[in-house]
Order: sequence, then structure tokens, then C-alpha cells
Amino acid sequence: MSQKKNEIGLAIVGCGTIGRIRAKLAHDYPAVTWLGLCDIKEELGKKLVADTKADFFTTDYRELLKRPEINATIIATDENHHVGPTLAAVEQGHDLFIEKPLATDARESLKVLSAIKESEVDAVIGYTNRFRRRFLALKQRIISGQIGDVTSVVTRAFMNRMVPLATTRRTDQRQNLTPMVVSGTHGLDMSMWLMEGKTPVSVYAQSVDRALSKYGTKDATFGVFTMDDGTIFSMNISWALPIVWPGAVYGLEIGIVGTKGVIDVEDTHRDLVMASEIPQGAGYKPDGFEPEFQRHVDFLTSYPPGDIYINQIWGPIREETNTWFARLCSGLDSPHATANDGHRNLVLTMAMDLSAKQGKVIRLPIEIDDFYK
Ligand SMILES: NC(=O)c1ccc[n+]([C@@H]2O[C@H](COP(=O)([O-])OP(=O)(O)OC[C@H]3O[C@@H](n4cnc5c(N)ncnc54)[C@H](O)[C@@H]3O)[C@@H](O)[C@H]2O)c1
Repeated sequence: MSQKKNEIGLAIVGCGTIGRIRAKLAHDYPAVTWLGLCDIKEELGKKLVADTKADFFTTDYRELLKRPEINATIIATDENHHVGPTLAAVEQGHDLFIEKPLATDARESLKVLSAIKESEVDAVIGYTNRFRRRFLALKQRIISGQIGDVTSVVTRAFMNRMVPLATTRRTDQRQNLTPMVVSGTHGLDMSMWLMEGKTPVSVYAQSVDRALSKYGTKDATFGVFTMDDGTIFSMNISWALPIVWPGAVYGLEIGIVGTKGVIDVEDTHRDLVMASEIPQGAGYKPDGFEPEFQRHVDFLTSYPPGDIYINQIWGPIREETNTWFARLCSGLDSPHATANDGHRNLVLTMAMDLSAKQGKVIRLPIEIDDFYK
């Protein structure tokens, strides 16, 4: 944890879907006294400047991050573009909030982690689900020993294919935009957080790509990890559910079995259904993604960040962002994922992809160079 701040001079790099949400929360947070924004899309960025009364805007993150007013930075660029601005912010000594994944390349992720550790800036990663009341409640039960020792965890994430369609269209560098690296990382982070203290020693995974290979990604990856104490962890994601599937974004089921009890999590959002003759739009709609389909049934609240009311976001991303501001000002201990967690999550998700590619068990920890052989 770095020095407490009386005032936050905040830079946000990336003014898209998530940068916009966090910038609006920053505008409403009293300790944020200076806000600077950057996006390579000038029009999009300037619209956010107007909506947040930001103090500064540029299309060059290096110019922004050199500003003397800044002591904290949010990296909200799309997945393949976190590394450059993160390293530039570390160089300036800013505390950091970085959207997941930490990077999409294992060597770059390690480089970012090393730079953060050397500089001793405080860096957290955007694993927004950690801020859901239900997961905080069950984490507390697990750490207070109420189900005994955890021996097996099964996690299943289901996603509407709208997310991979919107994600892969942003770039032609799609080799690492896999279901596990981009989105399964949320379910994996949650599971690893609930199993805190256990270290994976091997993973075996398989993937299928029948529906989404034409978009440069895979449909699903299912894997089984073994932990150092013998715990088994099954981590499965499919992000190829059809567009008409009522779950607009993320549906999760987690079962955690201990020696004295069990916790069974149903987080698929089937408890909140809306059906209408009026077409519903996409659940996740970054700039430039125009869905070519109509949906009429929706499981509401499946978008992990939250939901809009009176032009404001309500839900976990508000808790997550405002808690980070409090952490900067008062040194508050918080459930945020650390840079170590972010790097670990990338390596484990990539190890699943490597196992699926090679058809072999991967022993962990893996040497980073093994991803490039
Ligand atoms: N926490 C969550 O629940 C959650 C939800 C969705 C997305 N995400 C993550 O948030 C990040 C951003 O996703 P998004 O949905 O906002 O994407 P987006 O496409 O809506 O926005 C990304 C923005 O970054 C800008 N950008 C790219 N490179 C840049 C650069 N070098 N300098 C300045 N701007 C640059 C793009 O022009 C774009 O406007 C991704 O890492 C994504 O995985 C997190």
C-alpha cells in the first residue's frame, strides 16, 4: 500500500464502455479533484470529457500520464492494450487500477508485474465479481472454517456469444483472446480467491471451436486443476451460447465442497426474467458493435459491472471503484485482486489453453518461456 492521498488526481486511459463507467463514478467522488482522460478515438473521448467535466483530454496516453496533477491511473483500454499505458503509469509512480486481464501475453504480464513490484506502487486488477455481496458472504464463511477444509470446487461459466463477437471485432490480434483468457478469468479468479492459500500443481484441459473459429476464437474450454494439497478444481467456460439465450452476459455456477459442509452458488440470473414483444439490445455493446439480431427474453442483472438507473451505474462496479478511491485515501484494506493475482490468473488461463492445444497435462508452475515453445 503506498502513501495515503488527501486528494486524487486521476488519469483514465480508455474511454470506452468500462472507462466511461469509472470516469462517471470518479466525477461523483469528492476526493477526485482532477480528472484527465485519454482515448485514441477523439470523438468518443471528448464526449466523456463533456459528461464528466474532465480537466484534460489527449489521444496520447504518454502526454496524459506525465501531467503533474496525477497520482492514480485507471487502465481501461481493450485487452491487448493494457501494457504500454500501465508501464508508463508505473514509471510516474501512480497507484493503479488495471482492467482484467493484466495483459494478454505471458512475458508482457510478467514484465508489468515486475515493474509494479519494483516501483512499489499499489496496483489492483478489475475482478468486479469480488464486490458482489453473495461472494463476500461465502468467502467469509469459508475463511472462518464453516465448511471445514475445501477439497473440491466445480465452476461453470456460461456466456452469450455476444461478448466474444464484440471482443474479437476490436482487433485482428486474436490468438490470445480465448474464452478463458478474456472471460473465464472472472470465474477462475473467483474460484482461486475462494481457495486462497492453495496452489495449483497441474492442469488438464480441452477446448472446442466449432461455432466461433470463424471469429478467431474458441467456443469452450473445460479443465481440471489439482492443487498442492490434493484439492481438485474443475473450471469450465462456454462463451458460445446463442444470441437468443436469455442470459445476456455472464452466468456462473460454483459448488464448493469441504470436509464438513458445502456451498452451492446459483448465479445464473434465472431468478430475474424479462420477456417483451419489444426487442432487447445487446447486453455488452462497446462502441462500433451493432448487433444484427433481436432478443426478446432477458435474464436481468447478468452484466457483471451493474445496471443503469437515472443515468448512473448501480452494482458491483460502483462498490469496486469507490472502494478503490477509499483505499487510495485511507489505506482501507479491500477485496481487490492484486497484480500478483492478475498475473497468476493470466498464466493459469493460458496454461489451460496450452494443455488443450497439446492434449497433455501441464505441470505448474510453468516457466513463462514454455508458452512460446
Ligand atoms: N470489470 C468488468 O466486469 C469488465 C466488463 C467488461 C470489460 N472489462 C474489461 O475492461 C477493458 C475495456 O473494455 P471495454 O468494454 O471498455 O472496451 P471498449 O472497446 O468499449 O473500450 C476500450 C477503449 O480503449 C481505447 N483504446 C485502445 N487502445 C488505446 C490506447 N493505446 N490509448 C488510449 N485509448 C485506447 C479504445 O479506443 C476504446 O475506446 C477490457 O480489458 C475488458 O476486458 C471489464
